[in-house]
Amino acid sequence: MKISITGLGYVGLPLALEFAKHLPVIGFDIREERIEMMKNGKDPSHELTPEEFKGKNIKFTSDPDDLKEASFHIIAVPTPIDDHNLPDLKILLEATSIVGKQLKRGDYVVFESTVYPGCTEEECIPLLEKECGLSCGNDFKVGFSPERINPGDREHTLTKIVKVVSGCDDEALEIISKTYEMIIEAGIYRAGSIKIAEAAKIIENTQRDINIAFMNELSIIFNRMNINTYEVLEAAGTKWNFLNFFPGLVGGHCIGVDPYYLAYKAKELGYHAQIINSGRFVNDSMGAYIAKQTVKKIIAQKKNISESKVLILGITFKENVSDIRNSKVIDVIKEFISFGVKVDVIDPYANKTEVRKEFGLDLKDKVSKGYDAIVLAVNHEEYRTLDEEYFSSIAADKAIFVDIKGTFRNKINKLEYWSL
Ligand SMILES: NC(=O)c1ccc[n+]([C@@H]2O[C@H](COP(=O)([O-])OP(=O)(O)OC[C@H]3O[C@@H](n4cnc5c(N)ncnc54)[C@H](O)[C@@H]3O)[C@@H](O)[C@H]2O)c1
Repeated sequence: MKISITGLGYVGLPLALEFAKHLPVIGFDIREERIEMMKNGKDPSHELTPEEFKGKNIKFTSDPDDLKEASFHIIAVPTPIDDHNLPDLKILLEATSIVGKQLKRGDYVVFESTVYPGCTEEECIPLLEKECGLSCGNDFKVGFSPERINPGDREHTLTKIVKVVSGCDDEALEIISKTYEMIIEAGIYRAGSIKIAEAAKIIENTQRDINIAFMNELSIIFNRMNINTYEVLEAAGTKWNFLNFFPGLVGGHCIGVDPYYLAYKAKELGYHAQIINSGRFVNDSMGAYIAKQTVKKIIAQKKNISESKVLILGITFKENVSDIRNSKVIDVIKEFISFGVKVDVIDPYANKTEVRKEFGLDLKDKVSKGYDAIVLAVNHEEYRTLDEEYFSSIAADKAIFVDIKGTFRNKINKLEYWSL
């Protein structure tokens, strides 16, 4: 058997390289520049080392005809939201159409992209059937197996996470499970249906989003009470069943996106998902909230806000990764700029050109001095080792240190300290 993987990003590439230890793999991506990098042992997402490419039975290609060689196809392309926070299935349907055109009798197609429950059966299968002129269940089989990897996480890697697998019938479930069993050490969970597997994935991330939203709401309340949220959480966390969540910016293309997919489907079915939407509202408002709190503190120091200068440390969507897509740090920056504040942004991981393209913003190479506020927006390793002496050396008189994630709690004494 030969396997094809369509979409070689955060999800597809590690999967392709893992399968390529056991079987011949066709790694297909429409972006030729990414294919060229992978041919040279480079991961465009900066997650894998050149070592991980060595000795693997894989053909990287951007020619859809090569997909014909494979009989088991996995699709792992992005499933973003549009400007109105609605599911944008364009990329998924385009990839489905490409794979559909190459399908043969006896082939398997497994979708790994996160979607709302029902999407595979309502949107993807009909498109596959249309493109190949064959019938799902009789001529070819389909399954859905969501991905649970977490960018930047070196502990919970692909093979060490239980894989939820589903199929369009019992035979498909069995064959798809056996295929993944080749690579997944942690084991396979056979879900009862494709819709169940789709729903399981989407609620994992929605649950996190809602829990973080609750923490963010608490942080807004405790700020008014003048108590530190992290101290409250530490105290409450001594109870055995208190859940371990923290306030913060919720960005990226999973947690901040997937709940919108579920809410969209719920609405289509006539139900307005209030908790899910409230969670999204709270989390999406945090960037502007953080900037406003900082601006208030700068004004309270009797400084002219339009002459003040702020340093933002980190712009990626989370720590120790280079991915800037859907980063919520930009909300903090935009809010500062709307007050006339001058903002310098640095990030050791983010790519300058990508930042310019995505946000129209120029990253600084070096920090300068005289900042009225320093905002630790992303907890990159490089920032964790800094100390108050350093922050003071680049701060203006009466500067504020904004520690979004509470990393430097109890470690900042001279600068005015504020965290969520
Ligand atoms: N990134 C994660 O950690 C993660 C975790 C779990 C689930 N997911 C889900 O997995 C899916 C893929 O996400 P990702 O982060 O790997 O995306 P990504 O943006 O890192 O990579 C997607 C790749 O697909 C390619 N592509 C786009 N259209 C294509 C097409 N028509 N044909 C072939 N290739 C195409 C792109 O060039 C890119 O290389 C999404 O649904 C996402 O929600 C992601």
